[in-house]
Amino acid sequence: MAQPTFSTHVGMVDILPDEVGKWQALERIIHEEAKRFNFEEIRTPIMEQTELIARGVGQLTDIVSKEMFAFERGDDQYVLRPECTAPVARAFVEHHLDQRGGTQNLYYIGPMFRAEKPQKGRQRQFHQFGAEIIGADDPAADVDIIALMMAIYDRIGISNTTLKINSVGDPESRKAYTKALKDHFRPNLSELSQISQDRFEKNPLRILDSKEEEDQPYIKDAPIITDFLTEDTADHYARVKELLKELDIPFVEDPHLVRGLDYYTRTAFELISPDLGAQDALGGGGRYDLLIEEVGGQPTPAVGFASGIERLMIACEELGIPLAEEEMLDVYIVTLGEKARKWAVKHLPKLREAGLSASMDYIGRSIKAQMKDADRENARHVIIVGENELNEEKFVLRDMKASEEETYSFENILNQLVN
Ligand code: HAM
Repeated sequence: MAQPTFSTHVGMVDILPDEVGKWQALERIIHEEAKRFNFEEIRTPIMEQTELIARGVGQLTDIVSKEMFAFERGDDQYVLRPECTAPVARAFVEHHLDQRGGTQNLYYIGPMFRAEKPQKGRQRQFHQFGAEIIGADDPAADVDIIALMMAIYDRIGISNTTLKINSVGDPESRKAYTKALKDHFRPNLSELSQISQDRFEKNPLRILDSKEEEDQPYIKDAPIITDFLTEDTADHYARVKELLKELDIPFVEDPHLVRGLDYYTRTAFELISPDLGAQDALGGGGRYDLLIEEVGGQPTPAVGFASGIERLMIACEELGIPLAEEEMLDVYIVTLGEKARKWAVKHLPKLREAGLSASMDYIGRSIKAQMKDADRENARHVIIVGENELNEEKFVLRDMKASEEETYSFENILNQLVN
């Protein structure tokens, strides 16, 4: 085959017709579960102001420092959104959603963009579904967010996952912890990887996230944040764990869990799957009590999660979960001759109005080729129309699965297919 002239950018993937059924089935599940949990959908633009993401996600994060697709146009600085929490926070503040009363329980599905090195489960355009509860401080909100995330995976049949949780503290606990962490790493700083040495001054918590071999012995005995929590934050964390137990949501505590975005405070969590390879996080999230204020709103506590759809698809494939049923076409009209084609054009709408999916051949193929096409389209039934059938106003209805044929008037065919 000739080399195509154009192709997608690296790390960006077409979702072709054979794949789309799975995406639609998954999206249906997300909408249904979100509704059951009383969440409303929100759709924000694909592009945001660069400053919103820089401030929201954090200047020192990998996302902001090296993975943004950003450009200028006139005086405006655009960025393709790398995630949706900062955009949702912006929309909450911009449209005064607090005035709707109560907490805002919002969810979204859509493409995100990060200029990462592509590998299995890591793309430059990928898709997330996520949810945010804005306006609630109570541990019940943290647990409801986790329960919604888990409900979606349960419904799909992905159950061999591990929920890791931690508390990353409030600013006061973080200050004390950062000091202890730096005291721990300082004597061996030159032994650490270059990335970790770079993080030492700017963001020492992220050293805990390092995958570099030489860092592991030092990370292993590093102090843990849960020993530095203020009383309030420790109580909050204890209550989250208690509620998870009451709801029978299994979890493991990982005191070294830090997330790659800077806005987290208190609860942080990640859902890990053994079916994903190196990029093993199906989803993650946590509490971000300072973000709404950071993007210009009143102090408002909030908690949320987001999950990668491509990673979910990989897990489904590994586990043999089909997600979508095979698409079937109810009726395919096979025609012989011009008159029959005209008849088909007139009768297709009647089949469709009756709620059936229906199609025909548009390009004058032979009967044999049309039958093959009907098969390829997974047609349940074929109506065969030729000169004789038109004269007698009786048409052959073929049941493709049973390989049986009967002759009926069109009205009878319609009755047969609808009932
Ligand atoms: P995150 O951990 O950066 O969190 O991303 C959430 C999930 O998106 C990841 O666990 C992964 O499944 C998927 N993901 C991230 N990057 C890629 C990529 N390059 N290719 C494929 N999948 C990817 C957030 O985005 C936060 N906004 C979550 C949140 C919501 N926190 C509070 N509310």
